[in-house]
Amino acid sequence: MSTVWVRFGDARDYPIMVEPGNLKLLGSLARTRIRGKTAFLISHARIYRLYGRTAEKSLRSAGFTVHKILVPEGEKTKSLAQAESIIGRMIARRADRTAFIVALGGGVIGDLAGFVAATYMRGIEFIQVPTSLLAQVDSSVGGKVAVNHLRGKNLIGAFLQPRLVVSDPSMLKSLSRRQFRAGLAEVIKSAIIADAGFFLDLESELPKILRLELGSLSRMIARSCALKARVVEKDETEQGLRAILNYGHTLGHALETFHKYRGYLHGEAISVGMAGAARLALETGVCRQETVDRQERILRQAGLPVRGRGEPVNAIWRIMQTDKKVREGDNIYILTPKIGHARIFKKIGYFSVQRVLKAVLGGVGGWKNIHG
Ligand SMILES: NC(=O)c1ccc[n+]([C@@H]2O[C@H](COP(=O)([O-])OP(=O)(O)OC[C@H]3O[C@@H](n4cnc5c(N)ncnc54)[C@H](O)[C@@H]3O)[C@@H](O)[C@H]2O)c1
Ligand SMILES: [Zn+2]
Repeated sequence: MSTVWVRFGDARDYPIMVEPGNLKLLGSLARTRIRGKTAFLISHARIYRLYGRTAEKSLRSAGFTVHKILVPEGEKTKSLAQAESIIGRMIARRADRTAFIVALGGGVIGDLAGFVAATYMRGIEFIQVPTSLLAQVDSSVGGKVAVNHLRGKNLIGAFLQPRLVVSDPSMLKSLSRRQFRAGLAEVIKSAIIADAGFFLDLESELPKILRLELGSLSRMIARSCALKARVVEKDETEQGLRAILNYGHTLGHALETFHKYRGYLHGEAISVGMAGAARLALETGVCRQETVDRQERILRQAGLPVRGRGEPVNAIWRIMQTDKKVREGDNIYILTPKIGHARIFKKIGYFSVQRVLKAVLGGVGGWKNIHG
């Protein structure tokens, strides 16, 4: 079993266990990490049907009592109202502070269940069992948990590190191809910003990964988690370094917002965002053409988009400005001088950004084609 530790040098240290088939070991792994005896398994019907019984059986045979709580599928379920409803069900079961939560699902379930764990009686233990690629490589690592507010995503949240992450790559076989590719965007991002060797390996391993060969897939997941873990360990609450994980995200978020979260999956949007960031680096003399070409090549190879759908430059620019103020500080850009390195740049010229947006978005108008 491949184990990646996330280390803060205190009691919050926790292992991410990556191994095909390890869902069956959930109970025995939990035994080594959890104080209490009562588990609240949070999931939604589709995932529960696929993997719930295996998870429950494993927990029960390790001596835990299991209560299952199913919530509706989809981003809307990441709400304060849903969190309150789960908490209500836990109170009804007389859950005390030794109860713990098992989040079985993608990032939506992980964020919601983690938020409940962070707030129920001021915090209880929780285990992540991420089932989507995005959740296995990104959202289950780093301890950010949240629900959405009507005015924006992830506005109500906390930092709570799980006690354990059990990542079973064989669960990805039931994930849709589109969701799988979207998760790959975050993996490729990690390699671009932090590990040239990993990027090189991805370039050669990608065909196997796309065929879901479990060996290659497991190595990729573990490596990607390790990269994010190293960043999070140095900057848990995003005071500085952790911001590099937002590579490609300003433009990506603007695209998601522009289409009201219905046009692109997150990974698809940040793929276009990374293509934009790469071009901006070239435009401003930060990197060479080859660095742009390699990024675009691997994104395309992964089946991800590197151009927009004709969104109007000015509308996207305006959304980016608001997003930057909220998330990154004014006029900060994360760019890659070369593969494996990311740096924060200030004072990038307005005209450079406009030129890049024009090239990447693919012209004015046209976006209506998506909905119409
Ligand atoms: N906490 C963090 O650091 C962090 C980081 C990135 C994203 N996020 C959050 O994660 C969420 C997105 O996560 P996501 O992309 O996993 O979305 P998701 O949880 O909605 O899952 C995507 C879809 O895939 C399905 N699915 C998941 N695993 C499956 C499997 N094994 N087989 C079949 N279907 C499966 C789900 O039912 C869902 O329909 C967003 O809410 C985002 O804000 C959080
Ligand atoms: Zn992301």
